[in-house]
Amino acid sequence: MSDGAENDRKLWRATALTLFPQMFPGPLGHSLAGRALEAGLWSLEALDIRGFARDKHRTVDDAPFGGGAGMVMRADVVDAAVEAATANTYENARPLIYLTPRGVPLTQARAKALAAGPGVTLLCGRYEGVDQRVLDARDVEEISIGDFVLSGGEAAALIVLDVCVRLLPGVMGGAESLDEESFENGLLEYPHYTRPRVWAGMKPPEVLLSGNHGRVAAWRREQSEAATRQRRPDLWAAYARKSARREPQN
Ligand code: ADE
Repeated sequence: MSDGAENDRKLWRATALTLFPQMFPGPLGHSLAGRALEAGLWSLEALDIRGFARDKHRTVDDAPFGGGAGMVMRADVVDAAVEAATANTYENARPLIYLTPRGVPLTQARAKALAAGPGVTLLCGRYEGVDQRVLDARDVEEISIGDFVLSGGEAAALIVLDVCVRLLPGVMGGAESLDEESFENGLLEYPHYTRPRVWAGMKPPEVLLSGNHGRVAAWRREQSEAATRQRRPDLWAAYARKSARREPQN
């Protein structure tokens, strides 16, 4: 195998299947992800699902069986697009993800696992979504980015990519900032302060100017715990259970 092909194999590759390929790379063409894309640390291909429609009107959707509002993306058209994106064995190894509010909520842990793999194929729905039979026929992982409804899967796909790409080796400089961020230890992150020292009559917490690393770390931990307890009772409960297992009462 040539060096080029060898490098290609290691590249983290993303394919988005969408009716709006012009939405990609969108925000991911800028800043951290954009620089990484230019540097060849990851690749992104947007495939137009409409290109797989067979009739002269290039129809991709139809009315739902059983009636009701909206339109459904046709199984035959979507499946042809999936087939094109996953045809060879290497591409087949990438998880096929359908973005939907019915999916399993995205977590930092799942994003880490995806970033450690060969890449992703992301299926973006519009209208009421895609015909269930494509999802049943293919090994599809359904992911939601939260308990709200977007107008389509594209914004969700961009979010999945953003979350994964910043975790790829070489994309972010300081690995420490990855270790300290929200969700890494089951807690939300502590608040940050920088210059100017006094702004709008407000000073940073005294401890952050003390130069005492132990006190700074303890303060940050307290802040993380307080924010998690107040804002995310679900995370707090899981954290408290884990802490109790680590420090059994006697
Ligand atoms: N498509 C529409 N809403 C969505 C959501 N919350 N997550 C993922 N994909 C979606």
